[in-house]
Amino acid sequence: MEEHLTVGRVSDLADVSVRTLHHYDEIGLVRPSARTTAGYRAYSAADVERLSEVLAYRRLGFGLREIADLVDDPTTDAVAHLRRLRGLLLDQRDRAAAMVTAIDGELAARARGIRPSPEDQLKMFGAQLYDTIGSAYPATRRTEPRIAAQVWAALGDARTVLNVGAGTGSYEPPDRDVTAVEPSAVMRAQRPPGSAPCVAAAAERLPFEDRSFDAAMAFSTVHHWRDPIAGLRELRRVARRVVVFTHDSSDAGWRQRFWLSRDYLPEVADLVVGRPTIDRLAHALDARIEPVLIPWDCADGFFEAYWRRPEAYLDEHVRRAVSIWTRVGPDAERRAVDRLRDDLASGRWDECNRDLAGLEAAELGLRLLVG
Ligand SMILES: C[S@@+](CC[C@H](N)C(=O)[O-])C[C@H]1O[C@@H](n2cnc3c(N)ncnc32)[C@H](O)[C@@H]1O
Repeated sequence: MEEHLTVGRVSDLADVSVRTLHHYDEIGLVRPSARTTAGYRAYSAADVERLSEVLAYRRLGFGLREIADLVDDPTTDAVAHLRRLRGLLLDQRDRAAAMVTAIDGELAARARGIRPSPEDQLKMFGAQLYDTIGSAYPATRRTEPRIAAQVWAALGDARTVLNVGAGTGSYEPPDRDVTAVEPSAVMRAQRPPGSAPCVAAAAERLPFEDRSFDAAMAFSTVHHWRDPIAGLRELRRVARRVVVFTHDSSDAGWRQRFWLSRDYLPEVADLVVGRPTIDRLAHALDARIEPVLIPWDCADGFFEAYWRRPEAYLDEHVRRAVSIWTRVGPDAERRAVDRLRDDLASGRWDECNRDLAGLEAAELGLRLLVG
């Protein structure tokens, strides 16, 4: 007979009160499928799986009615729930990091006798990842002309262009009528004077009518969106043509191609778990997929940009302008940088990456979706 856990045991293991478990039973959210001979509720493996999902969504702040809809959704299996939960938790971690930084700022201000304005106090709760790391962005992030040319060619004859997740506007075409969308206040504040007007909004809910633009573009931002597919559908809704620069997040397509993520920072694999595949992103846009090669002297300091200039990754400024380094956490970052420094000093890096020496451009899984 299948093994069951008693209500008391479940309560101990999950650190949730028996009363709560009874309540979940009464409202039909998690009904233990058996009773012990003494009449206590007993949970099967399937009951425990459902309870784990309920508790995880609860911890993320979902209401019980919302949770019932989520766990009863017949199109979502246990793996899909785990992936969704993982994404939501990473999001929460980023937000928590952003709040810690905002609190540190407020503590430092108070220590100097400055009382924060009510606006500043509230801003802490709207903090985005890029409100934390965004001020380091302009140090190394700028337009790479060869990649920009590929993006602008893909925009075709579009006159009006919406740039979503626009940041400081590095890839906005200078010869078209551009409107930018950017949720982070820090990034918006760093847009150069005279750049396109910028709306504070997120990709998942664009404040524009259907077909308001000839084209919509999104450069190096989709992997930050809470719901990438919903965001892409929004781009599709508001524009006739859509151009997206992103990466193929599959292991073989991206992580294993680049020596940094393959040999020094395997933790990046965790960051892409649960993210839609490149084929799914392309499907949402009905788009074709073009490879984007990275020139050896790439001007835009994104994660893969220094594939032939490994010393660059030892520079704190280079790392702080790329969110991956913040997202993997300080321990992984320190370990990767120390190992790379040692391998550069010993000649091991050169030995292992001999094939890169004369290469002008590399195929590291970056992709343009044109739909
Ligand atoms: C790596 S930066 C890229 C900025 C710019 N596109 C560029 O290439 O320089 C990613 C940007 O996406 C923005 N972002 C994060 N979540 C977003 C969302 N849900 N919708 C739109 N933009 C978002 C961030 O605030 C950040 O400015």
